[in-house]
Amino acid sequence: MAEHHVCPVWVGYLLASPIRKLFENPVKILGPYVREGMTVVDIGCAMGFFSLPLARMVGANGKVICVDVQEKMIRSLEKRSQKAGLSGRIETLICNNNSLGLDDFEEKIDFALASAVLHEVPDVAGFFSEIHKALKPAGRLFVAEPKGHVSEKDFETTVSFAEQNGFTVADRLEIKRSRTVLLTRISQVVRDK
Ligand SMILES: C[S@@+](CC[C@H](N)C(=O)[O-])C[C@H]1O[C@@H](n2cnc3c(N)ncnc32)[C@H](O)[C@@H]1O
Repeated sequence: MAEHHVCPVWVGYLLASPIRKLFENPVKILGPYVREGMTVVDIGCAMGFFSLPLARMVGANGKVICVDVQEKMIRSLEKRSQKAGLSGRIETLICNNNSLGLDDFEEKIDFALASAVLHEVPDVAGFFSEIHKALKPAGRLFVAEPKGHVSEKDFETTVSFAEQNGFTVADRLEIKRSRTVLLTRISQVVRDK
């Protein structure tokens, strides 16, 4: 079986840099969708560039489930969340390449984030189908992919996988250097005949 590329751990440190907030501000990007008390999942969270601000946004009664295939990313995120006093709101999950391991969260998630991860996932249709199961009815999934790694054509193919696996496009957001889509879970999965 072919090896699938995943983001190296050293890049994880760069991605978690506070300087990134100058052109990609988590509160500005996700603030309109995340409320106090929500249960949120950050898929491919790495060292938590988005997870820690999300933990602040959901407040003391909310929860952020942080999922990643790489243990080193998760361990670093755990240290960062402890240091920030946010570990009580964060649950970490080390998944594998073929499954996010969200079986315990069926229809429990209000909002899901997949930032710069989909181009590393081998089974994109399976990925959407798993998130569909975990989201509450009408729950939302925000997908962002880096323009430098993902062409417009490939991004639109990803969006069509989402549409075939129970999502509808709710919005397109302008974020410098990223291709993005906000998806809403619909109850019926539309399959090709
Ligand atoms: C480019 S980094 C993006 C990190 C973070 N979301 C951000 O925007 O800063 C991609 C992350 O996705 C993780 N990843 C790759 N394949 C994955 C999969 N199949 N399931 C979950 N996480 C995965 C990698 O380990 C890496 O931490």
